Amino acid sequence: MDFQLRRCGPGDESAVSLIGQATILETYAGIAEGSDLYSYVTTGLSVESFRRLLASDRACAWIVETAVGKCAVGYALLLGGDGTEPFSVAELERLYLLYRFHGLGLGKRLMDEALSFARSKNTKSMSLRVNSLNEHAIAFYERYGFKTVSEEPFRAGERDYQVFVMQLAL
Ligand SMILES: CC(C)(COP(=O)(O)OP(=O)(O)OC[C@H]1O[C@@H](n2cnc3c(N)ncnc32)[C@H](O)[C@@H]1OP(=O)(O)O)[C@@H](O)C(=O)NCCC(=O)NCCS
Repeated sequence: MDFQLRRCGPGDESAVSLIGQATILETYAGIAEGSDLYSYVTTGLSVESFRRLLASDRACAWIVETAVGKCAVGYALLLGGDGTEPFSVAELERLYLLYRFHGLGLGKRLMDEALSFARSKNTKSMSLRVNSLNEHAIAFYERYGFKTVSEEPFRAGERDYQVFVMQLAL
């Protein structure tokens, strides 16, 4: 199967919200409480929240779609920090693929795109947060040189979940 990766823009918010919500459920069902997941995706990954993000100069998102039918199977979202230069530091806020499309090199394509965008903006370091139980993703990030620098709680719904903060100097 062939896939296309492209940068998202205004108009993509419904597709990104849908793939964002679906991949959260797929990744964390059985790890987190269902009610926390429902609350998290309906607030943090709504069409409206992506509409705002995609219009912002401090956010950049990419989507992977099937070549046939142009259906979203994964996405990445990079957020710039608060400084005067929007991307002097950046957080890889999300990198998710539907389970059926893991292991096909698509995560690498999304990661390479986010890294090359950050380098083009002279970003000094990229950080991310990953659930401490998500060993698969942690191992994937370590391959790129990300190192765990701290551990902190992440609020989703009514509970705190433990996340590792990982960082990569660029
Ligand atoms: C983590 C994730 C993005 C990886 O994407 P993927 O498409 O499955 O990975 P790829 O096929 O692009 O693999 C790229 C490379 O990393 C390697 N790799 C993939 N997963 C790995 C893992 N868990 N541990 C070590 N290496 C891994 C591959 O072997 C490949 O190596 P190569 O370039 O030498 O061939 C994907 O599995 C995913 O969406 N997981 C669920 C969502 C998630 O947990 N996201 C992170 C939330 S913070």
